Amino acid sequence: MPPLYRAPRGTRDLLPDDRPYWDRVENAARCISTRYGFQKIDTPTFENTGLFIRGVGEGTDIVEKEMYTFQDKGDNSITLRSEGTAPVMRAYLQNGMQGLPQPVKLFYLASIFRYDRPQAGRYREHKQFGVEAIGETDPLLDAEIITLASDFYKTLGLSRIYLQLNNIGCPKCRPIFLKKLIEYYQNHKDELCGDCKRRLVTNPLRLFDCKVESCQELIAQAPKITDSLCEECRTHFDTLQSALQAYKVPFTLNPTLVRGLDYYTKTVFEFWTEGIGAQNALGGGGRYDGLAESLGGRNAPGIGFGLGLDRVILTMQEQEIEVDQPPPPGAFLITLGDAAREYRPLLLRSLRDAGIRVANIYGKRSMKAQMRQANTSGTPFTLILGDRELEKGQIACRNMETGEQTEIRLDQVIPYLKPNT
Ligand code: HAM
Repeated sequence: MPPLYRAPRGTRDLLPDDRPYWDRVENAARCISTRYGFQKIDTPTFENTGLFIRGVGEGTDIVEKEMYTFQDKGDNSITLRSEGTAPVMRAYLQNGMQGLPQPVKLFYLASIFRYDRPQAGRYREHKQFGVEAIGETDPLLDAEIITLASDFYKTLGLSRIYLQLNNIGCPKCRPIFLKKLIEYYQNHKDELCGDCKRRLVTNPLRLFDCKVESCQELIAQAPKITDSLCEECRTHFDTLQSALQAYKVPFTLNPTLVRGLDYYTKTVFEFWTEGIGAQNALGGGGRYDGLAESLGGRNAPGIGFGLGLDRVILTMQEQEIEVDQPPPPGAFLITLGDAAREYRPLLLRSLRDAGIRVANIYGKRSMKAQMRQANTSGTPFTLILGDRELEKGQIACRNMETGEQTEIRLDQVIPYLKPNT
């Protein structure tokens, strides 16, 4: 009979077999963040809905279509974390972090919830490793953040990761560019796909995101934002590129790279890969110098990224990168007879108190069945306790590699196993 319930569409169980991958990527994230001077922050799994509407932007896909929003029992509109940056900025403002030495450098490992169309590499709950550095405009900080992300992929052994880089201007120069862009597209209105006709009105920068074949030529011929940058943005972009070269982080300039969230200013970037289907963005981020103010705070420029860990793991598997498997139990305890079975908890207690990872069997099983399980566990030692041995205060210890079996005194089990487990 099929089970009555399955995990909701777009979600999945991360099973023990997946754990070594998750441990590997999460440990690498912690280790690299600490090396770069970032401290961990955990924000709530849900926030007031307004935070995402104001933070991410009303016309974005996230806010328009993808949020998990509900009224709680107090009639507050609540939304499951649909991205990590606005919550971290809220926490920065709420907790007076503006009073700390700037920039404040924070990282997180968090579940993100989006009502996306599920497919390989795209889930309704996914995990991100994110960092946010708030309180500084220096382009050298941008370079450091991008280098951190690049180091993360490198540490994991990933290859064929391509950094795409762009600068989408600031409130001074972007409106001038948008005017040019709209003018250009108005002249080609009849050639646009339905979605692009809508984008032209709601969010013209997103015209660059269109995947429809017939719009590609229009995108290629469209004005480029990098030709319209103001002096400040231009200098920022140039300094960033020189710093990335100094850090030896290769990148491709991509003047049509725009991101799906409205808070970005100046630097934007994505890491792309191949081989995991349509979902080729392994991570992305950028600067958000106006976010604090749009959340009602004082000016606090920032930059950060979010890397999709589910996709990172898929890519590791695709590239056949191996990870450490958990070690087998240090010992496996088999008992035969009622007295030995009764004695088992006492022995297990003292072995575990001594830090020995010991596995055992439940129920009454034959010696053969128990041995079979000990064999498959991969343990180096099997302890065999029968009523007869117990009476003599002894236990048999079999070295599973050599097959050699030694009788030892019960009070000597721990020192016997300890150096080997
Ligand atoms: P984002 O581009 O929306 O940016 O998401 C970051 C990454 O999360 C994506 O590049 C992708 O790897 C992964 N991701 C997104 N949606 C899904 C999904 N449905 N299933 C699996 N993985 C997914 C942000 O969220 C920004 N908050 C990043 C940021 C931080 N910008 C500045 N600071």
